[in-house]
Amino acid sequence: MKVTIIGAGYVGLVTGACLAEVGNDVMCLDLDAGKIALLQAGGMPIFEPGLQALVQGNVDAGRLQFTTSVEAAVAFGRIQMIAVATPPDDTGAACHWTARWPATPGF
Ligand SMILES: NC(=O)c1ccc[n+]([C@@H]2O[C@H](COP(=O)([O-])OP(=O)(O)OC[C@H]3O[C@@H](n4cnc5c(N)ncnc54)[C@H](O)[C@@H]3O)[C@@H](O)[C@H]2O)c1
Repeated sequence: MKVTIIGAGYVGLVTGACLAEVGNDVMCLDLDAGKIALLQAGGMPIFEPGLQALVQGNVDAGRLQFTTSVEAAVAFGRIQMIAVATPPDDTGAACHWTARWPATPGF
């Protein structure tokens, strides 16, 4: 199954790596170009024991890839999983993820 993970943070990156490990083809999208560049270079932006090896093994196997392209990510997965951050607004109230969604023709 081809799966797109939108947001490559603690939730999205771990989920994407685990889905790749069980045989799915996974593309992780993040708007943070620095984070994606680091992942593409074999680095790890978060601390999660065992995750670097899991990610690298699946990248090497061709089942896990990273992108900043909304268009490529949306076109990739039959399943699209959203794992973007939902920070509080100025009042401290929870912010719905759609408030941060990029307005793009690709999406
Ligand atoms: N981390 C946890 O233990 C945990 C537990 C339960 C629920 N959650 C929820 O899961 C969601 C993700 O949490 P997290 O800890 O992975 O956050 P995170 O901040 O580690 O990762 C979110 C990622 O989404 C990216 N992002 C933000 N807006 C984006 C957009 N519009 N398009 C693409 N990428 C975008 C950010 O750059 C970041 O890399 C949040 O809603 C959080 O409340 C997290």
